[in-house]
Amino acid sequence: MKYKQNKNAPIGLFDSGVGGLTVLKHLINVLPQENYIYFGDTLRVPYGEKTKEELYTFVTGILDWFKSHNVKIVLMACNTSSAVVLEEVKNNYDFPILGLIEPTAEHIASMDANKIGVIATSATIKSKAYSQQIIKLSPQKKVYEIPCPGLVEIVENDIAHTDHAHEKVFEYINPLIKNQVEKIILGCTHYPYLGDVINKITASPNMLVDPAQYLTEQLVNKLKELNLFNNESNCYRKFYVSTAPDKFVKAGQRFLPDCQKAVLINPIKY
Ligand code: DGL
Repeated sequence: MKYKQNKNAPIGLFDSGVGGLTVLKHLINVLPQENYIYFGDTLRVPYGEKTKEELYTFVTGILDWFKSHNVKIVLMACNTSSAVVLEEVKNNYDFPILGLIEPTAEHIASMDANKIGVIATSATIKSKAYSQQIIKLSPQKKVYEIPCPGLVEIVENDIAHTDHAHEKVFEYINPLIKNQVEKIILGCTHYPYLGDVINKITASPNMLVDPAQYLTEQLVNKLKELNLFNNESNCYRKFYVSTAPDKFVKAGQRFLPDCQKAVLINPIKY
């Protein structure tokens, strides 16, 4: 597909809620001069408990909305959408659409570590997107995938530092420790909010792999390839959500203090 985007157009990114802000934080560090439009589908969170058909409806509604904002590229700052819907929609728009799984699997395949844990939503684990892509590139690796229902709600409700959060995370991480994994992929963009809790449990701060880093690298390469870096000096970051903007801002600021205001919008007809 030929892309005819404008260098100064925004980069669109979305998630079910505050999770994608962990991706935006990486993007702002590496590409601070870009314009960003962020959509958090707070009305429909958690995506990880939805069917493929529901996710397809949500994601196409969001992509159509980004199209009306003339974005130059869209990032699925959501593993669940990347795992379940990306393949089906990625060639249907006149802008590139990137996801988290492929660049992360490539990175993992090139690492020495052989025992890899993945924590993610039920839908991402059910899709086997991580294990299949990693093993395709590196068949000797062993991938242990753990669905973690409830963690997204903990982050959305801004209770990541409570005993309840610690207990829940322990329940999911303990089987990975028992299997002696060398790396744990944070296969949901909400989980970096729980990074300190996980590090305390594993007692090994270098164990976590955050896919946002590899998606950011892929984005830089894509913008280079298409000659699409923004060349204007004043840039903006806009935040939109489908319900409860104040709750979103409060929880999101834990990770991204730049997120100070969100506008209510519902681009999905459902
Ligand atoms: N943060 C998203 C992900 O990376 C969605 C989580 C959810 O809403 O269940 O999977």
